[in-house]
Amino acid sequence: MNVSALACEPGFDSRLDDYRARIERLLDARLPPAHTEPRSLHEAMRYATLGGGKRMRPLLCYATAETLSLAPEAVDEAACAVEMIHAFSLIHDDLPAMDDDALRRGRPTVHKAFGVATAILAGDALQTLAFQVLAQAGGSAAARAAMLRELTEAAGSLGMTGGQAMDLEAEGKRLDLPHLEELHRRKTGCLIRASVMMACAADARANDDTREALDAFATQIGLAFQIRDDLLDVTGDESVVGKTHGADAAHQKSTFPALLGVRAAEQRCDDTYAEALRALEPLRDAAQPLRWMADHLVHRDR
Ligand code: IPE
Ligand code: IPE
Ligand code: MG
Ligand code: MG
Ligand code: MG
Repeated sequence: MNVSALACEPGFDSRLDDYRARIERLLDARLPPAHTEPRSLHEAMRYATLGGGKRMRPLLCYATAETLSLAPEAVDEAACAVEMIHAFSLIHDDLPAMDDDALRRGRPTVHKAFGVATAILAGDALQTLAFQVLAQAGGSAAARAAMLRELTEAAGSLGMTGGQAMDLEAEGKRLDLPHLEELHRRKTGCLIRASVMMACAADARANDDTREALDAFATQIGLAFQIRDDLLDVTGDESVVGKTHGADAAHQKSTFPALLGVRAAEQRCDDTYAEALRALEPLRDAAQPLRWMADHLVHRDR
């Protein structure tokens, strides 16, 4: 598979714009208004969530829905919930006790803007709101339960939270490649995978072959996404990325470029992307929205 950027159908680009507008609207409606007491908490939750993220995880929910011929309504709650968990993870990731970052999405991080205590609480509240939203999803009770299971597992100690613990423990150490991959799969890959698998759970007709293909795709693209994030920390433009350049090296983080060098890390990212595309082959043309999404996820400059 040629790993150069796939040409994206113009129609898909405009659907992505529609999905971005859709998720912005849904998140805005589901977050408590800023004037609701306690105001500082609600302002911080809204600042963290509505602050210009790329919305990759919701877009993956919608692209998976397209692949499965589901209406976007079927994954609205999943898309909101995963973005809320993601926003919570970023707030806590930036805290002084974690990555100690001052800049995110080109603006002060939540604890810089609202203080550490409010930032911690905003993360807590976003996490519970995510599950409240997902518990209100339409569709069958079985599909709802399956979506909840995907997201709770992905966010918990065997998923994102566990990956974050591994990331902190790995500071200043030289992990071998399998351990670094495992760290990245957990801290970032699990929520990306859940974005796809929640949409799959919403489809009562999805068979085991479809589920396996989507699982393999999502697992690989989640890893490629974090390798690209590591690379952007080294090679990206701070004014475009919106995060402090070189923060990983400053914290002696275990990253792909630190372990392999930039060139080999780029190759690893390309190879992982190619594996993700290969996993979609059994789904044939139906998976084209996911191929375009994979291209967006991996060939990005922010
Ligand atoms: C950043 O995620 C943190 C990682 C898990 C790599 P994104 O790059 O998706 O951040 P936003 O939401 O677009 O700001
Ligand atoms: C973050 O990884 C993963 C999360 C669970 C938030 P990073 O620490 O590399 O993310 P950025 O670079 O700060 O966005
Ligand atoms: Mg981190
Ligand atoms: Mg960080
Ligand atoms: Mg990073």
